[in-house]
Amino acid sequence: ALLFPAARPLAGRRIVMTSGPTHEPIDPVRYIANRSSGRQGHAIAAALARLGAEVTLVSGPVTIPDPQGVKVIHVERAEEMRDAVLAALPADAAVMVAAVADWRVASQAGQKIKKQEGEGPAPLHLTENPDILKTVGHHPLRPRLVVGFAAETQDVEENGRAKLARKGADLIVANDVSPETGIMGGTRNRVKIISRDGIDDWPDLAKDEVAARLAALIAERLQGSGA
Ligand code: CTP
Ligand code: CA
Repeated sequence: ALLFPAARPLAGRRIVMTSGPTHEPIDPVRYIANRSSGRQGHAIAAALARLGAEVTLVSGPVTIPDPQGVKVIHVERAEEMRDAVLAALPADAAVMVAAVADWRVASQAGQKIKKQEGEGPAPLHLTENPDILKTVGHHPLRPRLVVGFAAETQDVEENGRAKLARKGADLIVANDVSPETGIMGGTRNRVKIISRDGIDDWPDLAKDEVAARLAALIAERLQGSGA
């Protein structure tokens, strides 16, 4: 069917995304991870695809289905996620929603670590994971529009603005993920859109509605700046 072009304002645009958590193995049976259902990121991928974008979604381990009309690359670790994102460049936009584990175990055990009677647990030595958003925001193939998230439990605006600058992003979608908000694992979200122009406070919305609005905003931003 022929769709009116205005209904597909992202036709021909390539967008790379991340969503979900990453799992950083400690040994073959254990891992370190952030809490993330992938719901918000996957909904954004679907919304962008509905506007005509060619979306590559690099997803960490989630239990929800792949979004429709999207090319999905499944990964486990942050380093794998980074490699898949960089392999998807160049792109017109990057939207990094994943709750990437900030640390991984410095040297992963090849065999299951056994409890040692009377000795207590051995300490875990951690090392920092690559910051995928920051890497993309400062990359020679930097997409024209770089969007990140900021999951905060306090000082949402201040932390969001700091992330906008530090990571080289054009937009930060900041939200309060304190347990009492019910946002994590839930179906609703309340976000602030932080850019160099200021802060836009969106109302409490279903995650699908946040996704639709964000996709429309991305389309508008991509139309407004060059071909
Ligand atoms: N992010 C990323 N790679 C990382 C860490 C974060 O790509 N290793 C991205 C997230 O996908 C998100 C943004 O950076 O778009 C902010 O993530 P967040 O965890 O809120 O920020 P951090 O920089 O990790 O800072 P902190 O966790 O200390 O608040
Ligand atoms: Ca983090």
